[in-house]
Amino acid sequence: MSAPPLIADATEADLPGLLAIYNQVIATSTAVYSYDPVTLEDRRSWWRARLAQGYPVLVARDADGVAGFSSFGDFRAWPGYRFTVEHTVHVRSDGRSRGLGTALVQALFPRARALGKHVMIAGVDAANAASIRFHERLGFTQAALLREVGFKFDRWLDLVFMQRMLSPP
Ligand SMILES: CC(C)(COP(=O)(O)OP(=O)(O)OC[C@H]1O[C@@H](n2cnc3c(N)ncnc32)[C@H](O)[C@@H]1OP(=O)(O)O)[C@@H](O)C(=O)NCCC(=O)NCCS
Repeated sequence: MSAPPLIADATEADLPGLLAIYNQVIATSTAVYSYDPVTLEDRRSWWRARLAQGYPVLVARDADGVAGFSSFGDFRAWPGYRFTVEHTVHVRSDGRSRGLGTALVQALFPRARALGKHVMIAGVDAANAASIRFHERLGFTQAALLREVGFKFDRWLDLVFMQRMLSPP
């Protein structure tokens, strides 16, 4: 049996590896509804903002460096949504299907609970069958389908919202 993946809080030294994964996902998929690569400074600002809010940015590391990352932030800005967070997770293309994504999201649950969060949301492109299956395996259920709310690669994109309770209702 292989050792469980090492999940840790991201440090500033992890940001170039995290950036490379994120930009590869932007360039090659509809998992992120962005068009252009982001800069290291952009990821540094994002990482600092998450930490300033008390929210985690986690990485999985392997022999080649950062193999994946996960994080969560506020779902929506209004105060009544304060017990709900929306997460993100991306794994390096050569590190997928090895359980890293699962470990990265499972590590978010206790962190969110410790902050008193009640619900975690995943916004998944409707064509991303792997991610929908992945989230179902993690206990997320499909809650909404928003048709043609995104646009990338010259086509409309449908967005599935999935949710997972973090604490009993
Ligand atoms: C989606 C993603 C985060 C999953 O991470 P991962 O490390 O590859 O997933 P895991 O190895 O932990 O897989 C757990 C389960 O998810 C499902 N799954 C993962 N990859 C899959 C694939 N390509 N096709 C179908 N199901 C898949 C499987 O049910 C798998 O369980 P199993 O191996 O016992 O069958 C990763 O593939 C990724 O980064 N993809 C590109 C970016 C992306 O889509 N990010 C998510 C945006 S919402």
